[in-house]
Amino acid sequence: MKQLLTSLTALLLVSGGCTPEEEPEATIRIDLARRGADIPTSMYGIFFEEINHAGDGGLYAELIQNRGFEDSSVPEGYTVKGDRIFPPADRTNHLTGARPHPDLSFRWNPDPIPAWRFEQLEGSGASAELTREYPLNEASPTALKVTLPEKGRIALSNCGFWGMNIEKGKGYYLRMNTSNGNRFEGRAILKLVAEDGTELCNRPLAIDPDRTWCEYTGQLTATGSDPHARFVIELEGTGTLLLDYVSLFPETFRNRINGLRNDIAQTLEALHPAFVRWPGGCIVEGIDLSNRIEWKKTIGDPKNRPGIYDTWGYRATMGFGYHEFLQFCEDIGAAGMFVCNAGIGCQGRVGDACREEDLDAFIQDALDAIDYALGDGTTEWSRKRVENGHPEPFPLQYVEIGNENWGPVYEKRYDRFYRAIKAKYPRLTLISTLGLGGQHRHERVDMIDPHWYVAPEFFLSSSRLFDQQERGGYAVYVGEYAVNQQVGGGNLLGALAEAAFLSGMERNSDLVKMASYAPLLENVNDRVWPTNLICFDSHRVMGRSSYHVQKMYAENRPDYNTATEFEQPRNGVQVSGRIGLGGWNTDNEYRELKVTLPDGRVIEADMERGWTPKGGTWSAADGTLSQEGPGVMRWSIWDSPEEFSDCSISVKARKKSGDEGFILYFGMQGETGYVLNIGGWSNQTTAFQHMVGTDMPQIPNNIAQQVETGRWYDIRIDIHGDSFTYSLDGKRMLEARIEQSRQYVVSGYDETTGEEVIKFVNATEKPFTARIELAGAESVGRTGKAIVLTSGDPSDENSLDNPEKVVPEERVYKGFSDRFTYTFDPWSFTVLRIKVQK
Ligand code: AHR
Repeated sequence: MKQLLTSLTALLLVSGGCTPEEEPEATIRIDLARRGADIPTSMYGIFFEEINHAGDGGLYAELIQNRGFEDSSVPEGYTVKGDRIFPPADRTNHLTGARPHPDLSFRWNPDPIPAWRFEQLEGSGASAELTREYPLNEASPTALKVTLPEKGRIALSNCGFWGMNIEKGKGYYLRMNTSNGNRFEGRAILKLVAEDGTELCNRPLAIDPDRTWCEYTGQLTATGSDPHARFVIELEGTGTLLLDYVSLFPETFRNRINGLRNDIAQTLEALHPAFVRWPGGCIVEGIDLSNRIEWKKTIGDPKNRPGIYDTWGYRATMGFGYHEFLQFCEDIGAAGMFVCNAGIGCQGRVGDACREEDLDAFIQDALDAIDYALGDGTTEWSRKRVENGHPEPFPLQYVEIGNENWGPVYEKRYDRFYRAIKAKYPRLTLISTLGLGGQHRHERVDMIDPHWYVAPEFFLSSSRLFDQQERGGYAVYVGEYAVNQQVGGGNLLGALAEAAFLSGMERNSDLVKMASYAPLLENVNDRVWPTNLICFDSHRVMGRSSYHVQKMYAENRPDYNTATEFEQPRNGVQVSGRIGLGGWNTDNEYRELKVTLPDGRVIEADMERGWTPKGGTWSAADGTLSQEGPGVMRWSIWDSPEEFSDCSISVKARKKSGDEGFILYFGMQGETGYVLNIGGWSNQTTAFQHMVGTDMPQIPNNIAQQVETGRWYDIRIDIHGDSFTYSLDGKRMLEARIEQSRQYVVSGYDETTGEEVIKFVNATEKPFTARIELAGAESVGRTGKAIVLTSGDPSDENSLDNPEKVVPEERVYKGFSDRFTYTFDPWSFTVLRIKVQK
C-alpha cells in the first residue's frame, strides 16, 4: 500500500518533452475562452460487488473464513451435486417462460466444513461435525460439534482467506460462541500460528460450564508476524462442546467495529471516489429471485446476519452490509448509491420475476432502505440506524432500480418504483438499468446505466460514442465498464483504451455525469472475473494500470471542458472485402444486390447461388434471399468474384418479422469488417459499426430510425476510402468515417488551481509529437507538470510481486507557452497541468 500511495512522489525533471528536430504530427488547438460542459464532481466513483472475494477475504476485515459454519448450508430449493449447485428447476424466466437450463449450475465447495481443519493431537475417537440440534440463532442455525469421548487433545484451525496476515505487536479482536451441552471438562487454548508452526499467540480460555450459548470476547496480541498464519483452538479434556460465530478482526479502517481492512480501504480512498455503489452487480438480483440480496438481512450485529450463497460461487457473510457501506461512504466523503431489486432475478441466469401484485413489497423495501439512510431517527427504519450507532443520516444520493434488467416487465416496474420514490424523496437521483436509448422506454428517467466489457479495440474506436447521443431530460451513468478481453489479467493496453473511452465521457460531461469501472476488487486466490481494478492477497494490495488511469482522471478532473480541436493528417484507411446480408433476431428478405464500381462496372449478385451462411437458416427463390432463425445473428456472405473497395452497394430489403431491422456487411475479411445496422438496438437506431468478431463498436454518428415490417426499402451504401454514406429510398440518411487515430485528447480548466489540464492518450508504439496552441490565455506559466503513465510494452501488467511496473510518474516540464510542442511517450496516458491566467 505504501508503495501505491507513494508512486507519484518521484518528481523527475523534463523528459517527455520535445527535441527541436521532432516535427509535430498534429495540432491541438484549445480555446480557453470557449467554455464547454461543466465536469460534475459526481463523475468518478466506485462500484462494489461481492465478487472475487471482494468483501469477505477482502475489504471486509474479518480474518476467519466460515465463521458461522454456514458455508455448506444449501439455499432453500437449490440442489447440490458434487461440486456444483443447481437453482430450483421450477422457476420460469419472466420474458421467455423458459425453465432454467438443466446445466445451469454454479461452483460449490464440497468440503463438509470449509476453511476449518480438525486434528486429534492426543488420544483417539474425537470428532468434529456440523449440527443444527442447538442453533445459536435463526441466522446461524449450524454449529460445530466437537466431541472428545475420552481424555484427549484436539486442534481446530481456521486458515482464514488463504492465510491470515498477523503482525507482531498488533491486537486481534476475538468473538467466539460456545455451548457446553454435554459438559466438556478440560481446558481450551487459543493460538495464532505461523505457516511454519511457530506460535504467534497462545492464550488459555476458561470454558463456561453453561449449556446456553455464551460469547467470549477479548484481544489476542501477536508476538510475531506471518502473512499466512492461522487461528487455532485447542481443546484438552473430555465431553462435547458446540462452537459458533468465531470471529477475529485486526485493527480496521477508521477503527470501526465490524470494519474494513485498512490497506484496501485506503487504496479505495486514494481514488477520491465521488460515490460508492453497493451491493452490485448481479448479486442484487440473485441467481434466482430467492437468492437476491436483502439489505435488511445485512444490518445489525453481524452474528445475526444469515449471509447468502453468493451469485459468484461462495458463501458471503454480508458483513460489509448496508450500514457498513453507508459508513464507508461517510468516512471517505463519497455519496452512496444503493441498488435495489426490482422484483426480478438475474436475467443472465434464471430471470424469474415476482408477481405484479407482490411488487409493492419490493418498492416498500427500497423505501425502507432510503429511510434507514436518510430518515430523521423517528421513522421505523431510521430508528434502527440510530440503534446501530448512527444518529445522523448517511449521505445516500442515488438509487438504481434493479441491475442489468431489461424488457417490458422491467420498463413498467421502473416507472412504479420511480413514482413511489420520487414522491417521497424528490432529491434522490434514480437510475434505470437500461442502456443507451433506454430513456424512451420509461415514463421518466433521471439516468440510464449502460455497461461495457470489451476488448481494447472497442474503446479505442468508440471515444466519440457519446458525442452523438441525444440530449435532454436524462443523463448517463456508465455504471460498469472495463477492457477485460485480450488484455491478460489487465495490461497497459487495456488501461489506455479505458483512458481513451474516458476522454469521450469527460468531453461529454453535459450528458455523462457518472462512471464506475467494474469490478473493483479481486482476491488473487479467487479470480472469477477476468480483470478487476485492484488485486490483493492476505497482506498486499496492488492497483492495476487501469487503477492508475482512474486515479489520474479523478485527481485531474477540471471544473469544465475547454473547446479542443485535434487536427491530424488522415492515415488513408481503405475499406476492402466482401459483402453480406443479415438481421439480428429478425427475419428479412433481400433482392437485387448490385455493386457499382468507380469505373462504372456493375456487378450483380445471384441471390439464389454463391452465398455462405454464417448464422441462421437461409433459402432463396425467385431472386429473393430469405433468412430465419435459429440463433440471433442471422447472416450470410456473398462469395462474390472479387473483393470490393470504393463502390456503391444497393439492395432491396423487406422485414418479415422480428425485433430489429436490416444488417448489411461490407469490407469483410473473415469475421472482421464493417456493418450498417438499420433499425438496430431494438429497432430504434441506425449506425455503422466496426465488426471485430463479436465486438461491434458503433462508428460515430447514428440516427434514430425504425424499420417497418412488410415494406420493401431501397438501401444504398457509398464507400469512399474510410468514409461511408447510407441512403434510404433515395434519401441521404447518415455519413460516417472510421476513427483511425490512436491518439485522444480532452482538456479543461481547473478553477481552483488556475491550471489548464490536458489529457492525452497515445495508444501506439511510436512517440507522438503535437503542437499545442492555447488561445484565450492572458499568460501561460512556463513550468508545469506532466503526469505520465507508460511502460515499455503494452502488455505490461502490475502484479503483487511487481506492483510498480506500470505506475504514473510526475515530471516537471519547463517548456509550456501559448504555442508549444510536446512529444508524448509511446503507449502512454499523459496529463499536462499548465498554469494559465485567463
Ligand atoms: O461486474 C461483474 C458483473 O458484470 C456484474 O455483476 C454485472 O452487473 C455485470 O454483468
